[in-house]
Amino acid sequence: MPKMPRVLVVHGPNLNLLGSREPHVYGTTTLDEIDSRLASAAREAGANVDCFQSNHEGALVDRIQESPASFDGILINPGAYTHTSVALRDALAATSLPVVEVHLSNVHAREEFRRHSFVSPIAIAVVCGFGWRGYLLGLEGLLAHLRDRVAAKP
Ligand code: DQA
Repeated sequence: MPKMPRVLVVHGPNLNLLGSREPHVYGTTTLDEIDSRLASAAREAGANVDCFQSNHEGALVDRIQESPASFDGILINPGAYTHTSVALRDALAATSLPVVEVHLSNVHAREEFRRHSFVSPIAIAVVCGFGWRGYLLGLEGLLAHLRDRVAAKP
């Protein structure tokens, strides 16, 4: 693993509303709280996270395109773009970085249209249904993956 692994955390549309948005589905934890819990967990694990949220598909694509220069992996909750955006998936695939997809809710236990993800086929793993804790679980898995990859190098 690189000395200090760096993970880009990407939050898609409407996740800026966490805390007040459909709390029965997404919980009452705000995005700022999630980001600061991720930062603490990363620090404890000897890693670094940078968090980015946008409601705009192009802004998300731009940020993802820039990521290989500064990051070793991507943790992403693409929000509704999960189910609609080929552009986001192509941007993620183009980075060649390991991607972990996270959803607060169990998307498979909800409406039919949420069962399809354009991102899952290019992700190394998907975490869903654990609420805000899913981000921490996703980060832990991604860091373990980065560690294993370095250990496997000759
Ligand atoms: C979500 C699930 C998506 O279907 C939805 O559009 C979201 C949030 C989740 O975290 O559970 O915005 O990604």
